[in-house]
Amino acid sequence: MSLKIGIIGVGGIAKRHFEGYQMAGAEVIAIADVFEASLNARQQEWGVRNAFLNYEDLLNLDEVDAVSICTPNAYHHPATIAAAKAGKHILCEKPISLNLEKAQEMIDVAKKNKVILQIGHHMRSNGAALKAKQMIDNGDLGRVTFMRLRQAHDWAGAETVRDSFGKLANSGGGTLLDNGCHMFDLARYFGGEVNSLYCQMGALKFDVEVEDTSVVTLTFKSGTLASVENAWTATGWEEGFWIYGSKGSLEYTNRWEEPVLKHRFRESPGTLWADTDVAIYNFHTAGVGQRHIMNFIDAIEGKREVICTGKDGLEAVRLVLSSYESAKTGLPVTL
Ligand SMILES: NC(=O)c1ccc[n+]([C@@H]2O[C@H](COP(=O)([O-])OP(=O)(O)OC[C@H]3O[C@@H](n4cnc5c(N)ncnc54)[C@H](O)[C@@H]3O)[C@@H](O)[C@H]2O)c1
Repeated sequence: MSLKIGIIGVGGIAKRHFEGYQMAGAEVIAIADVFEASLNARQQEWGVRNAFLNYEDLLNLDEVDAVSICTPNAYHHPATIAAAKAGKHILCEKPISLNLEKAQEMIDVAKKNKVILQIGHHMRSNGAALKAKQMIDNGDLGRVTFMRLRQAHDWAGAETVRDSFGKLANSGGGTLLDNGCHMFDLARYFGGEVNSLYCQMGALKFDVEVEDTSVVTLTFKSGTLASVENAWTATGWEEGFWIYGSKGSLEYTNRWEEPVLKHRFRESPGTLWADTDVAIYNFHTAGVGQRHIMNFIDAIEGKREVICTGKDGLEAVRLVLSSYESAKTGLPVTL
């Protein structure tokens, strides 16, 4: 029998969740949103039989097995706590919470109520990232020495940034928070725990109260070095990672014609400076966000481990907050 799902908050990102549930064969039977016009529009668009202005009413439906929490960040905590207490498995959008104590409470309450808590850092569901992780764990790259991770865009060429992102009180941070938390999660996925970091950032293009450009250098407990770059000052959408090891390197960027992972290494005799052996792996990156939802369903059905746990979500936010501290003091932060 298909799992029954509720979606709390039916704005932009909720569409990806709805599509992911459809692909996974789960059934969205209820939605909730405080904005009546959006609620009604989505109910019609998706043909969902239950629609509520208050998410507590959705959580009172016994037949709902799991929920997606797609509200603005401030409601991730209360909605997750309420859902866990109602016995529903939870896929909570990122960032888990900007408050680490609240994030820990979300993890604890989910555990106490024996429900799954997955966080929406969907890069873990990207085929190239999974292949890279397997190659790192296999030792194919030797010792990982340096990683560069970048997620950046330009608001599709817009002249201004919406207040929900540009005003500090609304957003809690700029590109370092919004894009950086995905890259910090990916950095931990590849490199393990971080020992220290140093952040520089600025508002260099837009008239905003938050940063539109940031770079964070990281030192991992393993000794690996990394840089995480985020920006709203790019030209077009960019997402990529470059991983360098003592025996080879990996390159991935959405900027290539084909979404491939390139593995460079030296095996053939006589390769020169720029001329290395290259293996190319192909992936269908379309629908990475939807695959993250499918992985959540698989975790509920016991087919896999949770791909991005509450703890992963918390540690990504810890790196974001530590980066802001470093930018403020101008000093490195030891985690
Ligand atoms: N994983 C990703 O790459 C990704 C991308 C975009 C957004 N997000 C995250 O998803 C969340 C939502 O972002 P969005 O872009 O969809 O925003 P959005 O503004 O388009 O949608 C949010 C919806 O939540 C509703 N809402 C607000 N308070 C509510 C409440 N108390 N109960 C129920 N509904 C409520 C709003 O009316 C709105 O319809 C944010 O946390 C954001 O960080 C993640």
